[in-house]
Amino acid sequence: MATPIIIDCDPGHDDAIAILLALAHPEQLEIRGITTVGGNQILDKITDNALKVLSFVNADIPVAKGAAAPLLGKLVTGEVAHGESGMDGPLLPPSKFKPVEQGAVEFMLELIRASEEKITLVPTAPLTNIALLLTAYPEVKDKIEKISLMGGGLAYGNVTTTAEFNIYVDPEAARIVFESGIPIVMSGLDVTDKAAIFEEEILELKQRGPVSVMVGELLDFYSIYGKKMGYVGSALHDPCAIMWLLHPELFESEQLYVTVETEGKLTRGMTVADRRKKPDHPANTEVLLGVDREAFMKLLFDALERLDREQLPVQGD
Ligand code: RIB
Ligand code: CA
Repeated sequence: MATPIIIDCDPGHDDAIAILLALAHPEQLEIRGITTVGGNQILDKITDNALKVLSFVNADIPVAKGAAAPLLGKLVTGEVAHGESGMDGPLLPPSKFKPVEQGAVEFMLELIRASEEKITLVPTAPLTNIALLLTAYPEVKDKIEKISLMGGGLAYGNVTTTAEFNIYVDPEAARIVFESGIPIVMSGLDVTDKAAIFEEEILELKQRGPVSVMVGELLDFYSIYGKKMGYVGSALHDPCAIMWLLHPELFESEQLYVTVETEGKLTRGMTVADRRKKPDHPANTEVLLGVDREAFMKLLFDALERLDREQLPVQGD
């Protein structure tokens, strides 16, 4: 029985790869819907990018637009890393799909209420939509299996010394989600920086079919910023949140209580874990800390090759 999921994203190069990874495994993951949120770029660009990725692989999955800005303050985008379009690099054809009329919160609420099984949420972006859903309709928590998110980091940040982008953009939303009582699986920088793809692997992708080539071209652009920041290889942040659902055995993790700092001058947006022998609260988060990078890359390449090779059943058939 496939796990029903909703992906909440801000494509974004790595969001796009996460969506493709999920699409390549319809027998394991049933994408009930995709919601978008302002993050890597402004909401309209993000939504357009999500629709283009789906159209590229002919996946007719409903997409609903969500929050354009964080709960408090103005949107800080990830344009430095993702470019003016939010997904610079290859020029994808205009999408044949349009977003649904509903907003993301109502869309998720309807999907969750209508589902017989509990739904797993997979946010790979600022957590504004999820926080709004849980705050406006707390009763849905009983119908959410878990939240496998990309965000945070125990050891360091990437926007500030302590805050990772998805949490930094909306720390109040992140705190609501981590303290919601729903089981969290956190793919933070501790693990996602280890899921890095290297230049020779990107070259290999570009020798393959159209989907693999498109991903290779996305990564060509995406690796520019990583190189500028001194990284070797490009961290595949968002795909970790999907890969854990497919192959949790690839990861090392710790069960910890995690919440989010919203006040600190140096620490606003920091994910704070209680690692004491006797923490104040029971663990609420499986924090991913390590990954078998080689196995991760092989599974990702195989997934893309599958999309190249097979016209997978268009989800929602
Ligand atoms: O810090 C990495 C996160 O920020 C990823 O989700 C990436 O897409 C950007 O949104
Ligand atoms: Ca993202």
